[in-house]
Amino acid sequence: MTNRGNFSGRLGFILAAAGSAVGLGNIWRFPYLAGQNGGAAFLLIYLLCIFLLCFPVMVGEIAIGRKVGSDAYGSYYKLGGRSWGFLGLFGILAGIFILSFYNVVAGWAFGYFLEISFGDLLNHPDFGGFFGAYVNDISDNLWFSLGFMVFTALIVSQGVQKGIEAANKIMMPSLYLILIGLIIYSLTLPNAMAGVKFYLIPELSEIKAQTVFDALRQAFFSLSLGMGALITYGSYVKKDQNVVSSAAVISIADTSVAFFSGLMIFPLVFSAGQSPTEGPPLVFMILPQIFHDMGPIIGRVVGGSFFLLLCFAALTSTVSLLEVPAAYLVDQKKLPRKGVVWGLALLIFIIGLPSMVSQGMVPFLNKLPFYQGRDFLTFVSDMCDISLTIGGGLMCVFITYKWKIENMNEELSLGNDTYMGSILQKYINFTIQYVCPLLLGILSILVIIDKFFGIDKVFG
Ligand code: PFF
Repeated sequence: MTNRGNFSGRLGFILAAAGSAVGLGNIWRFPYLAGQNGGAAFLLIYLLCIFLLCFPVMVGEIAIGRKVGSDAYGSYYKLGGRSWGFLGLFGILAGIFILSFYNVVAGWAFGYFLEISFGDLLNHPDFGGFFGAYVNDISDNLWFSLGFMVFTALIVSQGVQKGIEAANKIMMPSLYLILIGLIIYSLTLPNAMAGVKFYLIPELSEIKAQTVFDALRQAFFSLSLGMGALITYGSYVKKDQNVVSSAAVISIADTSVAFFSGLMIFPLVFSAGQSPTEGPPLVFMILPQIFHDMGPIIGRVVGGSFFLLLCFAALTSTVSLLEVPAAYLVDQKKLPRKGVVWGLALLIFIIGLPSMVSQGMVPFLNKLPFYQGRDFLTFVSDMCDISLTIGGGLMCVFITYKWKIENMNEELSLGNDTYMGSILQKYINFTIQYVCPLLLGILSILVIIDKFFGIDKVFG
């Protein structure tokens, strides 16, 4: 048996998995989705999704990975045979496509970090116009996202402990520090409390079908579930570690960063008299305006820190996204890690090019006729989201009918003496067998209908 590498211990695993979870999803996407879906109402449904659906799926994924000690395909294959192996492959493919567009957005964040800290972005008279021009500038986009992919590959090619774990041990604490600093600053601004109120006091009438769909897909994306990332990371976890409590810590760490991002952004937005419903450009168009208003020096420092935070968060996630297919090729095809990592990085970068040019450079990709006139990047991202909830639901079906819940329980009791017979065991078993497959199945179908036809048009 080849030595695949391991996380050094509990902390290493938790930081790496939390690093995978905490990403652009928390700092870029969570606030704009919350802003569009009524703030606190969204937060409420989101928390429910995490507790009811995501936490059990996370436990299941890590258990599968640790049981077999292999990549996503190998784990399903070993426990369930060839046909279930396809579920692993489906996840690996989803990971490749997520990374393809994720790296484009990460490139924007990297470019903004450089242009705010060292360039003159904040002197620009029109930040909306700047963003529009920026995402249409092919050379900037190419270089920054290529740079980001190179950073990712450099880390992953170093292996699990020396690369992934070491990088996360530096970046994750830095990320928390920057975030806390920014929250303290934003809460001291005038009218900050209006933002806090919007974010924390739910208006139940704001809860619509769209709120539930958005909260669900965001929760799965944010916790990196449904595509085998945590099967892969779980495969590097030692048998004496407590999987259930680690999953709880990872879920809380990720959810707290999403929560705190909202707590940082909404006071900023409200104190500047801006609207929180801006959508995807919220972070790239509204925040620079706010940093600009802070004056040349403070704006540079606060704005630069914010985009550095975004880059760190993105990098710990891109690393896990690249690790999923890399582990597959290393484990199944016995290929050398370094070659695999660089080859995959190049391939995925190329797959991302249509997303990169879909923001206006290529009109057809900017307004897809079969996708309600939305752009290609949004299309890929939506399809990946759907595949995550389907993948999570199928994983629960796999555990229930193929691997069997007792075998999962046995795996989970390693490193956790009090698991068997506990309330937590009953909760995890009940949700994995009944709640998750049912809800994830129904909601995934509704989301597909919504994305292609618009749910209001079909049912309204
Ligand atoms: N969880 C990441 C985020 O919130 O940005 C995105 C992600 C990373 C999804 C890794 C899936 C994954 F395997």
